[in-house]
Amino acid sequence: MFIKPKIVMLFILLMLLTVNTSLAAEQTAPGSLSSDMFERDAKCASCHGIIHSQWEGGMHSLAEIDPFYKKEAEMASKETDGLTDTYCARCHTPIGVVSGELPPVDGSKLSDIAKRGVQCDFCHTVSDSAGIGNAPFILTPGETKWGPFKDSNSPYHFTEFSDLHTKSEFCGMCHDVSHPTNGLMLEATYTEWKEGPYSKEGVQCQDCHMTPGITKYEANPGKAASMGPKRDHIYTHYAVGANAFITDFLGDDTHRDMAIERLQSAATLVVDAPRSAEAGDTVTVDISITNSGAGHMLPTGLTDMREMWLDVTATDGDGNKFYHYGALDEDKNIDPDTLVYHTVLGDADGNPTSKVWLAESVISDHRISPRETAVEQHTFTIPADANDPVIISAKLQYRSAPQAIIDYLFDEGTYIVPVIIMAQASDSINSPDSDTNSDSDKGVQTEPTTESTPGFEAFGLAGVLVISAMFVHRKRRV
Ligand code: HEC
Ligand code: HEC
Ligand code: HEC
Ligand code: HEC
Ligand code: HEC
Repeated sequence: MFIKPKIVMLFILLMLLTVNTSLAAEQTAPGSLSSDMFERDAKCASCHGIIHSQWEGGMHSLAEIDPFYKKEAEMASKETDGLTDTYCARCHTPIGVVSGELPPVDGSKLSDIAKRGVQCDFCHTVSDSAGIGNAPFILTPGETKWGPFKDSNSPYHFTEFSDLHTKSEFCGMCHDVSHPTNGLMLEATYTEWKEGPYSKEGVQCQDCHMTPGITKYEANPGKAASMGPKRDHIYTHYAVGANAFITDFLGDDTHRDMAIERLQSAATLVVDAPRSAEAGDTVTVDISITNSGAGHMLPTGLTDMREMWLDVTATDGDGNKFYHYGALDEDKNIDPDTLVYHTVLGDADGNPTSKVWLAESVISDHRISPRETAVEQHTFTIPADANDPVIISAKLQYRSAPQAIIDYLFDEGTYIVPVIIMAQASDSINSPDSDTNSDSDKGVQTEPTTESTPGFEAFGLAGVLVISAMFVHRKRRV
């Protein structure tokens, strides 16, 4: 029989198309698996003890029981008639969602294993991904564990090399969050990384977040399993970012202290004041903040909640403070005239909202891109009776959430959100040993300073300017 070449071509094309569709991966659907298909983390701990102890108490292990998350997820569920239930939980308790144990959103039907958040046998039975954002993972629970080794042998399970696990795209499944109905980007850590310099240099999330290096890859020689071979590098599992709040009371000191250390590796601060000035002069001081250590924006993640800001003081030679910017009041609210580095989301009417499920736009986005510098200009008048030298001190501070929101969600006084000093620097005017410039120092303030200096503030004339390209209005649709 004679077959026309055109028909052969069509046939080949059709074949290719069918192959393609069958390859187009589908994310694991809610309720399509059961929780007893997954293994408890305690089982993995029997051979992977070190890795387990790193994971335990970190934010991945706490992702479902985190009270801040739970309160917000329950409020979202109530206000959307349950529309957000599996959406939120897909990242915070993936096993709970694929097993159909959630809803209800209160977690009352969750098995013990699902309560363990983002855990061993979730991440290591991810066999593929259908993309980036809103958790499009493909799970194949069972005897095979996917991981970074090509030569791994375990007496307990099969092992399979997974390139995905060694790349930011693995993290990007959950660390890019867009609104489920209008597509607005709510968290964009992966995209910030992808668009920034680190992705171009091939530096992955894992290089900073799963090695002792904090801001760069650093080898961690050891064993992946007690009976495994010694290897040049084992990835750590602390999952430490900036959360020194929840880790303080649900995790342990290790994770809290590591979060503080990471925050203190993220930025550099320089204060640049004029060398000399007369009492009564109005002077301008430049304070620059450089995102020197984070592979994404500073801050990143849930940035409508996170707060980063400068606390700046100017004192004269007798220790009288005549300028104070960025102070907290007695309710621990940041002075409203302060520039806060974060995002403000807007609801349908364009009013600011702290409820991500109501968000339809980004009203403002003041953050610092990786390796970029923001410069604030502080202008004040030196009091006529001030003695030399004038010292200008700046502290870069971080808080996981505004205290007012935590007080609103929980009974007031239940949780105090710690203020972390990321960096400190100072400079002086009319100093005898002239060239003192910006000594850096760091620390934690568990009890924020609320002192005010009545009378003296009247001399201050604050003007703040951010020079970097930061007033970005992001509105993306998927
Ligand atoms: C009886 C001991 C034992 C138990 C239990 C065990 N493992 Fe392993 N696992 C090993 C050994 C040994 C290796 C090989 C280590 C190496 O190659 O360096 C390994 C390797 C791995 C790897 C690396 C695979 C690769 O190819 O990169 C992953 C991932 C892993 N295990 C996950 C798990 C998870 C998740 C659990 C719990 C569900 C678990 N293991 C339980 C012994 C065990
Ligand atoms: C958020 C997902 C995630 C969770 C949760 C997780 N892992 Fe991993 N694990 C990874 C990734 C990603 C790598 C590989 C990193 C790379 O190669 O860049 C890895 C690597 C490993 C390896 C290979 C050795 C190493 O560390 O490089 C073992 C073994 C392992 N994990 C076991 C576990 C066990 C046991 C648990 C639970 C205590 C666990 N993992 C929890 C994502 C996860
Ligand atoms: C299943 C979704 C999922 C995957 C995959 C995932 N994460 Fe997460 N991760 C989360 C959730 C949810 C939280 C927040 C938990 C909370 O705050 O209650 C989190 C928290 C974190 C934190 C702590 C943030 C802080 O504020 O301290 C870091 C760091 C982190 N993840 C890094 C990673 C890296 C690196 C990878 C890739 C190797 C990864 N994650 C993969 C869901 C995921
Ligand atoms: C060059 C090193 C580096 C790389 C690469 C990097 N990070 Fe980070 N990350 C940091 C530092 C430093 C911090 C602490 C400062 C901050 O909060 O941004 C941090 C903080 C975080 C936080 C907590 C943010 C907050 O304030 O709640 C999350 C979540 C996170 N990183 C996830 C990721 C993910 C996901 C990737 C990859 C897409 C990634 N990081 C790539 C260094 C890095
Ligand atoms: C695509 C994955 C994903 C989805 C969907 C998601 N989250 Fe998250 N959530 C995360 C990650 C990742 C973090 C950590 C980011 C950071 O540290 O800033 C986080 C952090 C949080 C935090 C901060 C917890 C803390 O301790 O600081 C709250 C609250 C939260 N999410 C609530 C929600 C609610 C409510 C929903 C649904 C309306 C939701 N999340 C949907 C991934 C997700």
